[in-house]
Amino acid sequence: MRVVFLGAPGVGKGTQAEQLAAQYQVAKISTGDLLREAVRNQTELGREAKNYMDQGQLVPDAVVIGLVREKLSDVSCANGFVLDGFPRTVPQAEELGKALASKAMALDRVVNFQVSREDVVRRLSGRRSCPKCQATFHMDFAKPKVEGFCDRCGESLVQRSDDRREAIETRLKVYDEQTAPLVRYYEERKLLSPVDASGAVDVVFQHLSQVLMPYRMR
Ligand code: AP5
Repeated sequence: MRVVFLGAPGVGKGTQAEQLAAQYQVAKISTGDLLREAVRNQTELGREAKNYMDQGQLVPDAVVIGLVREKLSDVSCANGFVLDGFPRTVPQAEELGKALASKAMALDRVVNFQVSREDVVRRLSGRRSCPKCQATFHMDFAKPKVEGFCDRCGESLVQRSDDRREAIETRLKVYDEQTAPLVRYYEERKLLSPVDASGAVDVVFQHLSQVLMPYRMR
């Protein structure tokens, strides 16, 4: 199963990618997670990416393309992968196509998660994350057992720096301008499947599983 998850910030891509990876034993490649890890570790790449991320802007194509190329060569991708948050621009999509072709591979599906703008803003502004184990919660929709603390490791939860209102507005604008054109790009290549992501997490996962059913039976 080789899948790309498309959709606006906060639509639930990361939540669904985690479930898919666990249930079907495929690798989850999240460029957002990889970049946040680089920022935490204060690597050169992390220092370069931080300003873009805090402002809600995209990190330059060359940086993310290099990251993804490296991950696709990893043995953990042998059984397939889900790309969460990549590609996000047409040049990134073109580079992904070339990288896969060089390995005699192709994408099976591009899933386009769809939720109203209003719901996306609610999901992003209520998100809380664990800075230690990276688990994600929501103040209304996925509450931790003890308010403010991570269920998995007990650490205090924080709000992502790009989940502040001004950064959310920028991210949505950047999505409309730079990422939304990928819907047409993949539609033209007959790879796009829309998924209604407005319901609860388990309901969305059922829709997703139906769309991906043909590809998990290979
Ligand atoms: P990234 O981390 O990829 O951010 P994003 O695409 O904006 O997506 P999010 O992680 O915000 O949301 P999501 O759709 O994964 O939703 P989630 O499942 O968490 O990227 C961050 C930054 O890194 C970018 O702005 C950019 O700077 C840089 N970057 C990353 N990739 C890049 C690339 N390819 N090129 C250039 N730059 C790049 O859910 C959100 C919340 O909603 C959670 O609280 C969750 O609990 C809740 N929720 C989830 N599903 C549901 C549901 N069904 N019902 C109710 N609540 C739900």
